[in-house]
Amino acid sequence: MPDISVQVGSMKFENPFVIASGPPGTNRQMIAKAFKEGWGGVVAKTVCLEANKINNVAPRYGKLKSREGSEVIGFQNIELISDRPIEVWEKEFRQLKDEFPKKMLIASIMEEYSEERWKELTQRCEAAGVDGFELNLSCPHGLPERGMGGAMGQNAEMVENVSRWVSSTTKKPVWAKMTPNITDIRVPARCAVNGGATGISAINTILSVVGINLKTLRPMPTVEGYSLPGGYSCQAVRPIALRMVSELGRSLPPHITISGMGGVECANDAIQFILFGSHTVQVCTAAMLQGFGMVKEMISGLEAFMEEHNFSTIEDFRGHSLQYLTTHSDLVTRQVQAKRDRAGQAARDNEWDGDKITHQSAALTSEADAPTK
Ligand SMILES: Cc1cc2nc3c(=O)[nH]c(=O)nc-3n(C[C@H](O)[C@H](O)[C@H](O)COP(=O)(O)O)c2cc1C
Repeated sequence: MPDISVQVGSMKFENPFVIASGPPGTNRQMIAKAFKEGWGGVVAKTVCLEANKINNVAPRYGKLKSREGSEVIGFQNIELISDRPIEVWEKEFRQLKDEFPKKMLIASIMEEYSEERWKELTQRCEAAGVDGFELNLSCPHGLPERGMGGAMGQNAEMVENVSRWVSSTTKKPVWAKMTPNITDIRVPARCAVNGGATGISAINTILSVVGINLKTLRPMPTVEGYSLPGGYSCQAVRPIALRMVSELGRSLPPHITISGMGGVECANDAIQFILFGSHTVQVCTAAMLQGFGMVKEMISGLEAFMEEHNFSTIEDFRGHSLQYLTTHSDLVTRQVQAKRDRAGQAARDNEWDGDKITHQSAALTSEADAPTK
């Protein structure tokens, strides 16, 4: 039986599958359910110091469905971070660690751009027993209006400073969660590492408008007739997430860990993130659509994949597929070479074909320029 556990700094995950910050980690009861179903860890819903400033609206989700059927391809939300007071979270973090000491519990934290506030939030969550931290520098809606979330993630100096404030306050792993709403994800990731982050999480949701209702002419999700661009997730974002994770996998120093996410719905999706360098893989939307029990297929599918390839640990294949990403000009060179090789193979005597004799002769002929008179 392959070993699917992963060590990420001081955190040991019994499997690499982690609930991403969002509704599936929104309170103690939900997190306990995730642990009981078999998830290796949970990143709780993002907390801040003043939950009374968080005012959600409804409806706040929108689905993009396939044209043929009812399959959900894309999912948009305009949900804010947790509206539950930090005092409640402190109590629940303690209870969860008492009840599930071997499961990894990560606090997702977000604050205004103030050293004091980020440090206080870190200290309070650490005292409540969490195993690690994720810095929400990436929520794309609502919070940026207050200079938080994605607004910080798009500012290299802020990313570095917040990472430094938190990393200098705790010895536990600190993952900086990146926004995909940026040209080059490697820039803020590098700043987070310079600031002391030990890991990078990617990606948060992609800014989107899920659609316009053609009867009312109002964009969705519609709240009292109005809307705003929100965060896009689910399977439609997976190719973009994979590309961004590959950029991190190819550029980050080897001691920096990656927690990949975006559109993961089953074992085969998750394995692709590991093949591009992820140590852990997070899931949010699929758990909302399928329920926490989906992790069972993810575990058995990962084990079956490892057995098929004779991998005994995750490290045996983590990052393996990065070596096959190259430049376009390299692809051209390789194809020219491959054509030459194929032509050469056709020169084996029993492969000569009467109908192709002129082509095969030409393929084997070294063409020199015609001599000039
Ligand atoms: C309804 C909803 C709420 C979310 N809330 C948070 C949040 O509070 N903090 C955070 O860091 N990410 C939040 N996210 C983003 C997810 O953690 C994740 O980065 C993103 O959805 C991509 O993964 P997925 O396709 O598996 O959902 C939320 C996503 C959804 C769909």
